[in-house]
Amino acid sequence: MDRPLLNRRLAAFGTTIFAEMSALAQRTGAINLGQGFPDADGPEEVREAAVRALRDGRGNQYPPGPGIPELRTAVAAHQQRFYGHLGLSYDPDTEVLVTAGATEAIAASLLALLEPGDEVIALEPYYDSYAACIAMAGGSRVPVTLRPSPGTGTYHLDLDELRGAVTDRTRLILLNTPHNPTGTVLTRDELTAVAELAVERDLLVVTDEVYEHLVFEGEHLPLASFPGMRERTVTIGSAGKTFSFTGWKVGWVTASPELTAAVRSAKQFLTYVSAGPFQYAVAEALALPDGYFTAFRDDLRAKRDILANGLTDAGFQVFRPAGTYFITTDIRPLGEQDGFAFCRALPERAGVVAIPNAVFYDHRNQGAPFVRFAFCKSTATLEEAAGRLKRL
Ligand SMILES: Cc1ncc(COP(=O)(O)O)c(C=O)c1O
Repeated sequence: MDRPLLNRRLAAFGTTIFAEMSALAQRTGAINLGQGFPDADGPEEVREAAVRALRDGRGNQYPPGPGIPELRTAVAAHQQRFYGHLGLSYDPDTEVLVTAGATEAIAASLLALLEPGDEVIALEPYYDSYAACIAMAGGSRVPVTLRPSPGTGTYHLDLDELRGAVTDRTRLILLNTPHNPTGTVLTRDELTAVAELAVERDLLVVTDEVYEHLVFEGEHLPLASFPGMRERTVTIGSAGKTFSFTGWKVGWVTASPELTAAVRSAKQFLTYVSAGPFQYAVAEALALPDGYFTAFRDDLRAKRDILANGLTDAGFQVFRPAGTYFITTDIRPLGEQDGFAFCRALPERAGVVAIPNAVFYDHRNQGAPFVRFAFCKSTATLEEAAGRLKRL
């Protein structure tokens, strides 16, 4: 057969780097700080709620397409509790959609909202499913690169570059704040500028806010709360990230009734529904007291500090993240230039696995000297990793 089996839209994507690096971790016994999954499960009462739902026969058959009412109500109540003071609230019946993780929410949003040839602006480096989903939807990706600002130790969005990226074919901006992999949290000024641009050029925005509860300084500002944005913004959340149950794959979309209906049209033919019993458990999780969310954030902040200090001591330049559970580092102070080669050698050299940020770039050379470490791991594991990295 002459024709390649994998179609042109997906041919460029191959297997993800995470599979390669996790296999390397297994083979070498290295500490895996590559993939972003917690090494301990979330709250016991939430796990128990899932067991109860399974035993009671709730969700073992197809749940309703938009998600069970209990979970949609809980999502709406969560938005009201955390963002009501910013004027943001959603109707659980028409403005909330439960998805198979944030991943399906991203895919369904893009499949629903793009026509072939539409341009999508995405902040580079970006979470790896964005590029593939834009491609599957027949869209065309226009990266706007986040760059480290000299002397500040953080990444920032170049607003002129963002404005310059908009053309007559731009349909939507795919935003992510707090941002994986850089750990940047877009500032109020940056979000205001994004909102003004979206309104001025009549663009839709899909905003991936799965790390909304992991903002270590300041507060999370949902883009949908900015003037003119509610009716043009699809906001995405994830129980995997917020409650440390990444295997359950429960996510959600909040948006206007029209946008929610559009995303639902695509979602119904992807998975139709998923995670029945887990939806009941996540409904309970979303109602946990404020103390859960504060303790979760404080715990991850302390872990950030352990790993950031360890990486600094080992000689990396560290971009101390304001949010997420990832740290991006620059390996050039260690005399290294190539993140791929560095990450492939790191398990042997120091018994740790990390991810080369270049995989998150279209402009691979821009990402070449950067490497990402995840710190959603136990304190003991992070301390052990920090100790090992000193071998470098
Ligand atoms: C920015 C971002 N969006 C979405 C996801 C996927 O979320 P989920 O596991 O809920 O599909 C991740 C997971 O790493 C992520 O980092």
